[in-house]
Amino acid sequence: MKFFIDTANLAEIQEAQALGVLDGVTTNPSLMAKEGITGRDNIMRHYKAICDIVEGDVSAEVISIDLAGMIREGEELIEIDDKIVVKIPMTKEGVKALKYFSGKGVRTNCTLIFSAGQALLAAKAGATYVSPFIGRLDDISTDGIALIEQILLIYRNYGFDTQVLAASVRHPMHIIQCAEVGADVMTGPLSAMEALLKHPLTDIGLEKFLSDYKKGNPNT
Ligand code: G3P
Repeated sequence: MKFFIDTANLAEIQEAQALGVLDGVTTNPSLMAKEGITGRDNIMRHYKAICDIVEGDVSAEVISIDLAGMIREGEELIEIDDKIVVKIPMTKEGVKALKYFSGKGVRTNCTLIFSAGQALLAAKAGATYVSPFIGRLDDISTDGIALIEQILLIYRNYGFDTQVLAASVRHPMHIIQCAEVGADVMTGPLSAMEALLKHPLTDIGLEKFLSDYKKGNPNT
């Protein structure tokens, strides 16, 4: 399973990259705003800065809601760097934009997926990734992981190449559950990735190893 970080914070992206397990980045307009990145030129420069840090795909979201605008923006975004994947919302115009870009060989990420039907449409339109928001489904007492499983089954049935990118991942258990059901990618915060490495028995065990070493080597 690929690990993408879901942030526009450069320090966190650098930290995840330094850990050596980062496969890409996803952003959205809310995450950009959270970092105080506003204005088209600044946003474009920020995408470039992200691309310069990571080795994998970087999803950059269009803000137009009409087809012509989505196409114009997507074409500008892919000029920034080869790593850019055009992120398009699941709307009627968005499906048309997915089809347009897949016909041109441009990689896309269909965002705001909350149902299997939406994921099926996105795959038929040639999306490279679909992003079901599992955390937001969990928030409304709906099983986000069950949706990932359902989409994976449908894609397997018909051999779709579209990758299932579990988004709105909030905590380490989401990551583990995504891996159990076979999501292609998960995108989440650095905190969820770092939480995977923690176990109290690891800390206790390390402390004991180090204190035993000290006993045997008092002068080091
Ligand atoms: O990748 C989608 C993600 O940014 C949404 O996450 O936590 O705002 O539901 P969240």
